[in-house]
Amino acid sequence: MASRKNLVADRAALAHKARYALAHPQRVPGHLRRAGRDRWLAFKHRDHVSYYRAVMASDTRRDPDAAVGSPTREGWLKLGELQFSYLRQHGLAPSARMLDIGCGNLRAGWRFIEHLEAGHYYGIDISPDVLIAAKRTLTERNLQAKLPHLTLTQDLTLDFLPDAHFDVVHAHSVFSHSPLDVIEECFAHVGRVLAPGGFFDFTFDRTVGTEHHVLREDFYYRTETLTGLAARHGLRARFMDDWELLGHGQSKIRATAGTTRTTGTAPPLPA
Ligand SMILES: C[S@@+](CC[C@H](N)C(=O)[O-])C[C@H]1O[C@@H](n2cnc3c(N)ncnc32)[C@H](O)[C@@H]1O
Repeated sequence: MASRKNLVADRAALAHKARYALAHPQRVPGHLRRAGRDRWLAFKHRDHVSYYRAVMASDTRRDPDAAVGSPTREGWLKLGELQFSYLRQHGLAPSARMLDIGCGNLRAGWRFIEHLEAGHYYGIDISPDVLIAAKRTLTERNLQAKLPHLTLTQDLTLDFLPDAHFDVVHAHSVFSHSPLDVIEECFAHVGRVLAPGGFFDFTFDRTVGTEHHVLREDFYYRTETLTGLAARHGLRARFMDDWELLGHGQSKIRATAGTTRTTGTAPPLPA
């Protein structure tokens, strides 16, 4: 499948915005509405997590599927399947214990819950609204007997979770909405909750140019920034090349607990 990534654009640059507006004039009013709303929410909520929680509340009120990034149910199902089948191919066994950071309305979570043994799925999120939507997904899928944990969190210190417990920690499309200090908080603590041999998979919006963000909603990082930061917290991080072949807009890194620094190498730019 062809890559949908634009790895060089700086979406925060004025020239990029002007070019984009000229190419997609129909999207301008929607973007301006969103920018106005986000400015107001950022004014009311000074720390990032509170701000983003307010964004999620507003988006989830309209449509929980769209709030996690899938405007159609068909797309929601497809993206959940993509996440699930990737981890299945990487050996996710029913006996595994999984922590899903930023679980959203269980787009992929319901498939993990169905696959895993009862009580082995632990989803956390900063948004109460999306967790209510997650409970709805759970009910619709008749997964009550699987007794998943769904927990609201304010930060990523993971302090309420036990040592060495999770075989898989997963964060899909969460760091793409996170400033570096939030990501660093996660890196500083995730190693403690990883079981021996466990791994932490996360996706991110990748750039090979200038790191930037759009409306403090979407953040673009260089691979080396994240692998380097992970290494500073004792994690070995590597770029997942096989994920690139699946045509998803984000890239994926896998981190394991360890002291040796091995940074992943990103593939060359598409021609
Ligand atoms: C784009 S959605 C993806 C949801 C889910 N991972 C999926 O792929 O369907 C991002 C989710 O991460 C949550 N989130 C954002 N920042 C977070 C943070 N710092 N800690 C936990 N959850 C966060 C949001 O509330 C939202 O539900």
